[in-house]
Amino acid sequence: MSFCQTVTCLAFILNLNENFGDIMVILYDSLTGNVARFMKKLPVKSTRIVNDMVMSENFILVTFTTGLGKIPETTKDFLEANHPYLKGIASSGNKNFGTHFAVAADEISRGYNVPVISKFELSGTPRDVNLFMKGLRSV
Ligand SMILES: Cc1cc2nc3c(=O)[nH]c(=O)nc-3n(C[C@H](O)[C@H](O)[C@H](O)COP(=O)(O)O)c2cc1C
Repeated sequence: MSFCQTVTCLAFILNLNENFGDIMVILYDSLTGNVARFMKKLPVKSTRIVNDMVMSENFILVTFTTGLGKIPETTKDFLEANHPYLKGIASSGNKNFGTHFAVAADEISRGYNVPVISKFELSGTPRDVNLFMKGLRSV
């Protein structure tokens, strides 16, 4: 690795740590695997939500949209129990659903008064990864 690459890499790590502050936990919900695949593309660690999970620290949630613009039941149940710690929301969707595209993020944003970090199609593109990371830094 060249000197410049080392400096760039170090700056990236420091920048991540500096800007994420106390919002280090990134959680996700996924049914058919698209969101799970998106999370693997991110340069940050994430954890899948499970039944009866109880949070005691701030988190960002990435979910998907289902049933013509609906929030998945698994996501709803999780948020009912843990919403005080929710700091931002992102959703996967499919643009074939038109105006319903990824609207779970908008619904959750309105319901819990948190910002939409990003919306992306299926498992996301490299551009979606950049947009998500940019959104995460601005929370
Ligand atoms: C029954 C069903 C309904 C869906 N409804 C919507 C929708 O209203 N809006 C949307 O953007 N995507 C919709 N989708 C697409 C999913 O949100 C998309 O495939 C997402 O990437 C799934 O995430 P997952 O694979 O992590 O479960 C729907 C998918 C299914 C199977």
